[in-house]
Amino acid sequence: MQITEVKTIGILGAGRVGTAIARRAIAAGYAVKIATSKSPEEIALLLEIMVPGAVAATAQDAIAESDIVILALPLSKYRQLQPELLAGKIVIDAMNYWAPTDGTIPEFETEASSSEVVQKFLPQSRLVRSFNHMGYHEIDEEACPKGDSERRALAIAGDDMDARQTVAHFIDRIGFDPVDAGSLASSRLFATGTPVFGASLTRDTMADALQQTV
Ligand SMILES: NC(=O)c1ccc[n+]([C@@H]2O[C@H](COP(=O)([O-])OP(=O)(O)OC[C@H]3O[C@@H](n4cnc5c(N)ncnc54)[C@H](OP(=O)(O)O)[C@@H]3O)[C@@H](O)[C@H]2O)c1
Repeated sequence: MQITEVKTIGILGAGRVGTAIARRAIAAGYAVKIATSKSPEEIALLLEIMVPGAVAATAQDAIAESDIVILALPLSKYRQLQPELLAGKIVIDAMNYWAPTDGTIPEFETEASSSEVVQKFLPQSRLVRSFNHMGYHEIDEEACPKGDSERRALAIAGDDMDARQTVAHFIDRIGFDPVDAGSLASSRLFATGTPVFGASLTRDTMADALQQTV
């Protein structure tokens, strides 16, 4: 088992969930670089207000200079990602497929988890799905210290065990209990429409809910 030492988090997307994770990461002592489809100059002021301490970057720099990259853009835009830039990187997929906002996208209208489709598009990335089942305001408001009996859990799933461990450590440091659901295919257990999605669960109740969904 090899946990990657993580100092810098790169986030693609400066909307609700991207900025919420960024605030938690900065509070936990990580350096954070954020990119959108706009130039760094265009998002600098927004970041100064929404995520003081985060650095506006191009996608290329946010990815290259980070130990973990978080996908916090609309899933409908996933084909705008550049697989070659993300090759070899630990990548957290926080995206959900929601046809009313994303539009109908045939490749996501299947039994497979959306993260499996994203992994196919990013074949050389070490993809871990997480954060997708928690509302952005809860990421901000419900983080709490390790050991608190009310601490909220975040499920993780991915095919690379070292990447899962690295992401689990990151999640723990920013204020949540990681619950390892297993392979990337298991991420369907906490996708949109499952009992886990949007539920307020601790580590133990999350583990039970995942079991019941199998
Ligand atoms: N909202 C929640 O509570 C929540 C919780 C968990 C997961 N999620 C999932 O997380 C994803 C983002 O949701 P959100 O609510 O944060 O959306 P949002 O508020 O609409 O923000 C989306 C962000 O992505 C950026 N973006 C668009 N295209 C991009 C690209 N090619 N590269 C980099 N950034 C790009 C947008 O900026 P520009 O358009 O200026 O580039 C914007 O900053 C969705 O898949 C959603 O299902 C949401």
